This record gives sequence, structure tokens and C-alpha cells, in this order.
Amino acid sequence: MLACALGRAGARGSNRSMIPNQRHLFELPDDVAYLNCAYLSPLMKAVKNAGSEALARRGRPWEITARDFFTTSESTRALFARIINAHPDDIAIVPAVSYGIATAVRNVPLASGQTVVLLAEQFPSNVYAWREAARVTGAEIVTVPRPAHGDWTRAILDVVDERAAAVALANCHWTDGGLVDLVRIGARCRELEVPLVLDLTQSAGVLPFDVAAVQPDFAVAASYKWLLGPYSLAFLYVAPRWQRGEPLEHNWIARQRSEDFAGLVDYQDDFQAGARRFDVGEQSNFQLLPMAEAAMRQILDWGVTAIAETLAQKTASIAQRAGELGLGVASAKQRAGHFVGLRFDGGVPAGLLEKLSTAKVCVSVRGDSVRVTPHLYTTDADVDRLFNVLASVL
Ligand SMILES: Cc1ncc(COP(=O)(O)O)c(C=O)c1O
Repeated sequence: MLACALGRAGARGSNRSMIPNQRHLFELPDDVAYLNCAYLSPLMKAVKNAGSEALARRGRPWEITARDFFTTSESTRALFARIINAHPDDIAIVPAVSYGIATAVRNVPLASGQTVVLLAEQFPSNVYAWREAARVTGAEIVTVPRPAHGDWTRAILDVVDERAAAVALANCHWTDGGLVDLVRIGARCRELEVPLVLDLTQSAGVLPFDVAAVQPDFAVAASYKWLLGPYSLAFLYVAPRWQRGEPLEHNWIARQRSEDFAGLVDYQDDFQAGARRFDVGEQSNFQLLPMAEAAMRQILDWGVTAIAETLAQKTASIAQRAGELGLGVASAKQRAGHFVGLRFDGGVPAGLLEKLSTAKVCVSVRGDSVRVTPHLYTTDADVDRLFNVLASVL
């Protein structure tokens, strides 16, 4: 049974910028319908090659200079910055979303009587650190319930008030793509002077996002989903107003003049510029950064808006076919264009997971919903295979 069929996961279309199918850039067998990018993206051949070359190069340390500890981290930082319209100085390199959120939690003050606003069933990396901080400070976690009307933005605005010390959200819900209008939420947070902390893992690289429009305080995204990159790498945006904050740890490379290897024991109190003080130790990550770099170059080459529009067309046709089968699907306005959550009255039918697995159709299942997340490698044949299986159990 394919593991991917068992995972429990918890500017719309004109033809103008439709990107033709890009399956040739990936190594996807024809008999696998991989509709599970929200779980773990497949790797492009160029990304795998970048990883292989990086590993081979790491085997030749005599070719690795002090400068090389900074070059790829700087170019990768800059590429992620372009994806979210930030400045490279505002990006820290971190190993996971949990690390980025922990950095935000370390810096955002909480106190008894204040609240932290989270979404119902939010991904745990943007929950546990807040819960722990709330336990220690006496602040209260307020969870926005899943709105029956489907409008997360309205539901969040109903809950955020003067008591909020932090609002910690995503651009779209990881379980079914339920969309949050972060421009409106950002404006409300600024009005109340509440820090806005975002987990963009299920949206960066696939849904246009502009830090200038949203003005978050912190925003983090893992590389291994819609950024099409390696596991164990993430990028953290830190707004300039927090850039004199406390890093989680004190590594040498985040300190000033760390480029001068001969002078490293001339200890420095000051940090490298901008968000670099929040970089994880060993941010130079010789194996993974070249992979992330290759992936983000391709994403920028396609263009995030064009990716979003292309995937919105794919999911619109999936949603339409699902509706014809009698399945529940959120309206296109209320879900991100790269997600479709298929809901079954009375729960996921018996045998569906096994049949999907046998047919090598990879999706994620959560509660009574099947999460379908295509990318540019998804073909009509993949979608047909999904619907053949669905039709056989309904
Ligand atoms: C919304 C979201 N955030 C974060 C992650 C991963 O978090 P971390 O990097 O802390 O493992 C996932 C993984 O599924 C996710 O869906």
C-alpha cells in the first residue's frame, strides 16, 4: 500500500498565463498519480542534480572556501525574499517551521489577561510553542472555530480584539485549503498593534504573497512542499522592527565579521545585518541550500501568479467533477486555488484508502475529507485515475 494514500493530514484563472504541463522536469512514473504536493513535493531533476553535485562537492573540502559558507545562503535568502516580495536582509535560514515559530514566540511578549489567536486544527508547529508560552505567562489561547459559512477571514476578525497579544495564522488551512485574506487580517492587526505571525508552508511559492501588503511580523515557510525543495530547511521572514530581537541560540556565523575565519575568537557582541541573527547554526547547509536554490529559481521562472492561476484551473475542474459525484467542495472563493478538499457525507467510504493506494493515486485524508493537491506535473490522466477510484466507491 502506498504510504502517500494513507497520510492523515490534517487571483483566479484566465488562460493568459496558463503554464503547460511540466511533468518532464520531474521524475514521476506514469503509473503514479501524485496529487499530494501539500504532503511532500516530488523533486525536479534539476533539484536532485543540484543535491548530488552538492554532496559530491562536500566530499572535496579542499575546494570549499570561507566565502562558500555565505554565498549559497545569501543567494537562497534572496530568492525566497523575491517570492514573498521582501528584502534579503529580512530572511533568516532555519531548519523547520517550528524553529521559526519558536523564534517569534521568544520575541513576542505575552502576559496574563492577553490572548493568542489560532485557527481550529492549525498545524501543530504553529500551536505548541504558543500553548507553552501561554502556560508559562498565563495568557489564553483563543481558537477560531471552523466557520460553518466557510469564511475564515470573517471568523478571525470576529475573534481578534484588544486582548490579543499575537495572531498566529496561515494563508490557507493545511487540511483543506480554506483561504484567509491576510491583507485584511494584517490591517486589523496593525490597527490593534498586535503582532501577526504566519506559517506560509502551504502557500509560499504557489499563492502570491506580498509582505508589503500584509505586513506580518514573522512569516515562515518550509521548503519541502510548495517551494519544491528539500526537507529540513525553512525560511523565516522577520520584519525590520523585530530585527534587534533575541535569537533562539548563539552561533558564531550569525555574529559580525564571521567571514574572517582567522579572527573567530576575537568574539563579537554584534550580529550580522537584519534577520541573519536568527539564522540556525550551520546555516551554510552545503547539501540542502543548492537544492532549494534550484527549486526557487524554477518557481520564479514560472512565476508564482502563473503557477497559482494554472493550478486554480486544475482544481476547478476537480471540484466540478467532485460536485457531479455529490461530494462537498468549498467554493472557489473560500479555498486556495492549489487545494481541493473533497468531503463525503457520512465519512470517507470504506475501502477508499486501499483502492487509492492500489491504483497509486496519492492524496491525503483527514476526517471526512480527502485533500487533493496537484502541481504543474499533474496530468488529466492523473485526475481521471482519482475519479475512477472515487466512482468505484460511491
Ligand atoms: C502548515 C504546515 N506547517 C508546517 C509544516 C511542517 O512543520 P515543521 O517544519 O515544523 O515540521 C507542515 C507539514 O505538514 C504544514 O502542513
